[in-house]
Amino acid sequence: MRGEATSDDRTQPASARRIPFGGFHQSGVTTPQQESLVFAAFDVRAERLDDVRTLFLEWTDAARRMTGGEPIRARQGGFSDAPPDSGETQGLDPSRLTLTFGFGPDFFGTRSDARFGLARLRPPSLVSLPPFAGDQLDQARVGGDLCVQACADDPQVAFHAIRNLAALGRGAVVVRWMQQGFRHIRAPVPLTGRNLLGFKDGINNLDPSDDEQMAANVWAGEEGPAWLRGGTYMVVRRIRMRVEHWDSVSLSEQERTFGRKKVTGAPFGANREHDPVDPRSLPPDCHIIQANPRTAGSESERILRRSYSFADGLDARFGELDAGLFFVCFQRDPRRQFVAIQTRLSRGDHLREYVFHTGSGIFAIPPGTRERGYVGQPLLEGDVTMQ
Ligand code: HEM
Repeated sequence: MRGEATSDDRTQPASARRIPFGGFHQSGVTTPQQESLVFAAFDVRAERLDDVRTLFLEWTDAARRMTGGEPIRARQGGFSDAPPDSGETQGLDPSRLTLTFGFGPDFFGTRSDARFGLARLRPPSLVSLPPFAGDQLDQARVGGDLCVQACADDPQVAFHAIRNLAALGRGAVVVRWMQQGFRHIRAPVPLTGRNLLGFKDGINNLDPSDDEQMAANVWAGEEGPAWLRGGTYMVVRRIRMRVEHWDSVSLSEQERTFGRKKVTGAPFGANREHDPVDPRSLPPDCHIIQANPRTAGSESERILRRSYSFADGLDARFGELDAGLFFVCFQRDPRRQFVAIQTRLSRGDHLREYVFHTGSGIFAIPPGTRERGYVGQPLLEGDVTMQ
């Protein structure tokens, strides 16, 4: 959506630092990336579809208010004396807060255990991710029936949103796992950010303002269920970096790992970061060739990456920093895109030496909401009658 997002210039008035919650697509996908992330995966405890609808009605109302810089309202039928909003964002502007909601494969149950009667509406592309070579997944950081991605230019605003959505959902959902993330952005002209290995990350990404690219590779279309059209699929991977190991190897080993120069970001054989990549100048096992071999099928595999760095203190098992990349990507079909790329990376990417995956999730992200509608309404109401 061209022009959807506002710039990240802090001198702008609060109204310009507000990203509308409603729209044809959910925000937080093509929105220019904010500085902070709080991601939460939830499990649904509610047993009746009606209770899930109520949850999404309340979450949508709260999301509209919080992205507009307003405190949330008391829960319908709530009897607690506690203030409805926890209050830590009072007086703060919305900081370009976006809230992006998704449904994981387990939400739909199976044909034998239909759960909410929605098994037939599970999109075929919403596969459970297969195991990949070298995975070291911590089961406490895998999966989830639902997810919410909160992104904002203020970590307190992003945290507040997830905290209050979790509180609103008490009784219907529990947080299964969470991840905080950060990245450096510089106003007013965003530069290509660097990941914690010191390399520019996001150079050869899909362009979120290019409607044609988004239609071909990001937005779900006719191939899936009607409730998902205009939505997308999100894959998240918590990827630990072996930073101590990385910091002990030479600059040339670091650069050949990616096939790009560290300072400039230029691909081997070129001078500037956006210069074209000539695969003949690069080691065949380097990250950018393994991620995009530039063969006939490569264009249709391309994904929209929107990742954040994380630093979660010390990994006491190894006495090493628990830091890395919370890899976030959006795509039209995870089978032909993320799974295809990650299968190749897990077998042949030189970067394997320095990273391992510790968390994982896949979610169908429904389209945006109309003025009076709520997130997921076509799934939770309309399409059910078609069964
Ligand atoms: C900690 C893990 C990772 C790190 C540090 C990392 C870092 C990078 C860097 C520095 C680049 C080059 C600059 C750019 O074009 O953005 C890059 C490119 C890319 N990465 Fe990763 N990446 C990681 C994991 C992944 C994973 C898991 C995937 C997908 C499964 C992936 C997919 C891609 C793609 C598609 C490109 C663009 C390749 C091109 O078209 O030239 N990366 N990554």
